[in-house]
Amino acid sequence: MDLDSSERRDVLHSWCVQADWDAPTVVGGEGARFILADGRSILDLSSQAECSNLGHQHPRVVAAIREQAERLCYIANAWGAEPRAELARRLLDLSGFEGGRVFFSLGGADANEHAVKFARQAAAKPKGLILTRERSYHGASYMGMALSGDSRTNWQVDAEAMGVRHVQPPYAYRDQHEDEGDDEFGLRVADALGRCIDESGAGRVAAVLMEPDAGTNGMVAPDSYWPALRRHTAERDVLLIADEVMSGFGRCGEWFAWQRHGEAGRPDLMTLAKGLTGAAVPLGAVVMSSAVADRLEHEMLYAGLTYCGHPLACATGIAAIAAYEEEGLIERSRAMGAGLLSELERLKQRHLVIGDVRGGHGLFAVVELAADRATRAPLAPWPQQPQQLKALVDAALGEGVSLATRGNLILIAPPLVITEAELADALSLLDRLLARFFPPAK
Ligand SMILES: Cc1ncc(COP(=O)(O)O)c(C=O)c1O
Repeated sequence: MDLDSSERRDVLHSWCVQADWDAPTVVGGEGARFILADGRSILDLSSQAECSNLGHQHPRVVAAIREQAERLCYIANAWGAEPRAELARRLLDLSGFEGGRVFFSLGGADANEHAVKFARQAAAKPKGLILTRERSYHGASYMGMALSGDSRTNWQVDAEAMGVRHVQPPYAYRDQHEDEGDDEFGLRVADALGRCIDESGAGRVAAVLMEPDAGTNGMVAPDSYWPALRRHTAERDVLLIADEVMSGFGRCGEWFAWQRHGEAGRPDLMTLAKGLTGAAVPLGAVVMSSAVADRLEHEMLYAGLTYCGHPLACATGIAAIAAYEEEGLIERSRAMGAGLLSELERLKQRHLVIGDVRGGHGLFAVVELAADRATRAPLAPWPQQPQQLKALVDAALGEGVSLATRGNLILIAPPLVITEAELADALSLLDRLLARFFPPAK
């Protein structure tokens, strides 16, 4: 069987025009690299969908999958399962949600859907409003699309009818006033959220759901933003849900990005996926505080998924957490993230097309390209991608490096196990390709 043409002809691929899909087949991987069917080794500078935080085929994770498969692949959530209980305990310990509870889902979108369901039930506002941000991404299921402030999919749902309202995001590069400091800007945008709760009527708002630090939309919140959101929501008795699907597990330099702010950043619920298993097996989770769990304790929970708390996935999560711990990957990401940001600042000085670089709290950074540095005019209207950037990505792949982009943004989010030398090589390739595809105007 010709599997290459079967993939092209028989599979429906996500986020693309089917007729245009044309990607090589991957047959293996190791560390920060994956291997193509033709034998080429590709350095993964995006951890696939910002999820393979442990790199590819991490031996500890593979061994745990094998061992659990021998013992018990599946038992429904109605029964107990050792890996499920152990993973829940580990997540509560790591997050300090003492006395809380964990609900396991299959990925990020359904974790967010369930977090909304639990928040509404706990708040006794079954159809309560959920406030999220414009230009955010929370998943591609119907509720995920409603929660997301994403112009690619918003037209497919009536967010307002689903009880979702979008507010201004903390997009400093576009919206910060010239004479305004970063923290001042963060507070101003958080204040606007406070006003939106008041205008909507605090009694009608069940929860605010947002990414605490950075997201695939390429925004990185100023440090003042998240603690201010926490204050505004707590003062109004509105629950705060942190979408840690992408930002968790070291991506932003902490186990969970809100921990950057200590207790002042603690949400009421948080959602996880991606790095939870290092993406080796699908798994998501909703972790909730004891206060939220207590409110649900004696009520019927109308929620379930055939695979929720799947033992094989939970055993993978336990092994992934052990790998992050044993290899010091959270701290490593924090240290390497700072180095990554300064290297990108250096590239910004060399390439006029770079309008802004941001992130670097961990191994996640964003390069925003602009047509004109002074006016900040985008190269292409969001979310379209400029042709030259497409060509740059193709050229990078030709030279063995896989880059993720969104619109005018290059997202750099390598596996946390990437070596210093691999990262340095990839950045020097980026330097060369920026010079080739965006030469300074004569
Ligand atoms: C912040 C955030 N939330 C939710 C999701 C959706 O996760 P999933 O694709 O596992 O449904 C993503 C995926 O990119 C994400 O980045």
